[in-house]
Amino acid sequence: MESFALWRDRRGRLSALRIIALALLLFPLAKAVADAGVIAHGARPLNDLIHRAGFWTLVLLGVTLAITPFRRIGRYGNLIDVRRMLGVGTFCYAAAHLALYIADQSYDLGKVVHEITHRVYLIIGFIAWLGLAALAATSTDTMMRKLGGLRWRRLHQAIYVISLLALIHYFQQTKADVTVPIFVAGLFGWLIAYRGLAWWQDRNELSTLSLLGLAIVVAALTFAGEAIGIAIEFGISPLRVLATAFDFDIGIRPGWEVLAAGLAVAALDFVRARWNRRVPRPRPVAAE
Ligand code: HEM
Repeated sequence: MESFALWRDRRGRLSALRIIALALLLFPLAKAVADAGVIAHGARPLNDLIHRAGFWTLVLLGVTLAITPFRRIGRYGNLIDVRRMLGVGTFCYAAAHLALYIADQSYDLGKVVHEITHRVYLIIGFIAWLGLAALAATSTDTMMRKLGGLRWRRLHQAIYVISLLALIHYFQQTKADVTVPIFVAGLFGWLIAYRGLAWWQDRNELSTLSLLGLAIVVAALTFAGEAIGIAIEFGISPLRVLATAFDFDIGIRPGWEVLAAGLAVAALDFVRARWNRRVPRPRPVAAE
């Protein structure tokens, strides 16, 4: 029997980790309530809410994807206990995003279907939505048992394709400054490249040196991606765009922020590896 007391762990004990995860999941909702006055007096309140729900779906998707690397790098295996809650929470925000979109179309389902089938960014968003729905629906203990470990894991690997589609949808609907989407894409790139590297090295944990290399490569790709995107959009040489990377007067490029995040993770790994060496392992209890 699955418990609905989300703040308790499987043994029924109050869990600080679960309470923090719940607080994170409720934060966007609380923020929207706190901003209700501003939203209501804005030009398009429903559109504002659509953007908030979409943005938080993406953020929570990233947080869910970050659980696996961070439980390894932070040597904090218990993090796995909140992964399912965060994943299902992500889908709840995606569901709210779609529901708000339908409300914005005055509940005209014919128009909604027409729009979704005629606008590329909505087709892509909807496929990502269906993917998330399938993952949420198969997240119960019963469904895990029915599917079996291997099939369940294979199905849930769809999260990488879903993330990619969600990012494309985000980019396509961004009209002006793409600095934030590029930063977000860089972070997702790191999360996916981490798994790729671990798979390639056939290891569960990456060394600090590998994490350092990962940070540099992903940041370089973020710089390159931004330069190519801007070059295509404005018809200029990508090298000219790259040359502005050190011009901090026009702002800090997302590549630097991605590099800072990657280096912080490598530093965390370094500290945790030393820390673990100093803490003596518990002695095995002698057989009586
Ligand atoms: C997993 C699925 C999805 C994710 C992760 C997602 C994410 C996002 C994000 C991040 C934004 C931009 C938020 C911002 O500006 O800060 C956005 C905007 C938007 N999304 Fe989605 N979305 C998804 C699915 C959908 C679906 C299924 C629809 C509707 C059929 C939809 C309709 C829209 C609309 C209308 C906008 C605003 C566009 C505008 O104002 O021009 N999205 N979405």
